[in-house]
Amino acid sequence: MAEQVSQSNRAICDYEGTSYRARFWADQGRTYEDLAERIALRRLLPPRGRCLLELGAGFGRLADLYEGYDQVILLDYAKSGLREAQARLGRSNRYLYVAADLYRLPFMPGLCDCVVTVRVLHHLVDVPAAFAQIADVLRAGGVYVLEYANKRNLKAILRYLMGRQRWSPFAQEPYEFVTLNFDFHPAWMSRRLQEAGFVIDAGRAVSHFRHPLFKQRIGHETLARLDGALQRIGAAWKLAPSVFVRAHVDKPDGPAPTGLFRCPRCFAGPLTGQPIALRCAACGAVWRVDDGIFDFKAPVAENVGE
Ligand SMILES: C[S@@+](CC[C@H](N)C(=O)[O-])C[C@H]1O[C@@H](n2cnc3c(N)ncnc32)[C@H](O)[C@@H]1O
Repeated sequence: MAEQVSQSNRAICDYEGTSYRARFWADQGRTYEDLAERIALRRLLPPRGRCLLELGAGFGRLADLYEGYDQVILLDYAKSGLREAQARLGRSNRYLYVAADLYRLPFMPGLCDCVVTVRVLHHLVDVPAAFAQIADVLRAGGVYVLEYANKRNLKAILRYLMGRQRWSPFAQEPYEFVTLNFDFHPAWMSRRLQEAGFVIDAGRAVSHFRHPLFKQRIGHETLARLDGALQRIGAAWKLAPSVFVRAHVDKPDGPAPTGLFRCPRCFAGPLTGQPIALRCAACGAVWRVDDGIFDFKAPVAENVGE
């Protein structure tokens, strides 16, 4: 993955053109992980709502779990992933495909009932900035379901205690094991959520059996069922490599949003226009709609008509 600096001036792990699905999921021996993550998400996600936003949605792997939502917004920085999602899920009005940087969300405050991030936080250099954006686009009491890579997992603890790993899984700061790939300590993550105004409601420890020893001997469906049975109790110790959390945002009721999109450059909104472009009345930026994908990565024009 290439490193990219976005409009928000933060380094981004850029998946553009990487065929993430083929390279990471299709016939790559990760059916167990996919099933285990689905069990956790299904249990934590509010089953119904008006608007669900998935950030870093990739090719829409998990989109079939959102059937209870009237509007599903899939956002990713990589347009190639969104094109795959569009081809798989179709172009109905129910799905919106948005290319944007999650550090500058192009949505009106209070728009979403639920936000989801799975396998995304581990790419972020600035988790608090992402949480602030998520809290802003959620309505009062709206739910955030997140997954993060857990640095204090059993394998890391054993390796550390046996002297086969230098870094301590007990130290709270994030550990960058490869450029733009971070493992997080559960206590660090809980604190960042609380600072952003979230109240944690539930957690799940996921993928306890992510090891060839299990995966080669036991069928993935059986293994996922075993994992599902352990996820809730396992959340008390959080020794699995992946942790899911459900939190809600504690903020006062605001006015109902008057539109869908705001300008990710100056944050004024709502944006007007369509079907081929949206225009910001405040700063003049013009954002393209590229064959069904709302493209907020860079404006196509600025200060037009001013
Ligand atoms: C490992 S993939 C996970 C995809 C999907 N959530 C899943 O579980 O199948 C991480 C995704 O996060 C996206 N991403 C990383 N940083 C981002 C950012 N700053 N803004 C938007 N998307 C981002 C990448 O483009 C990539 O599609």
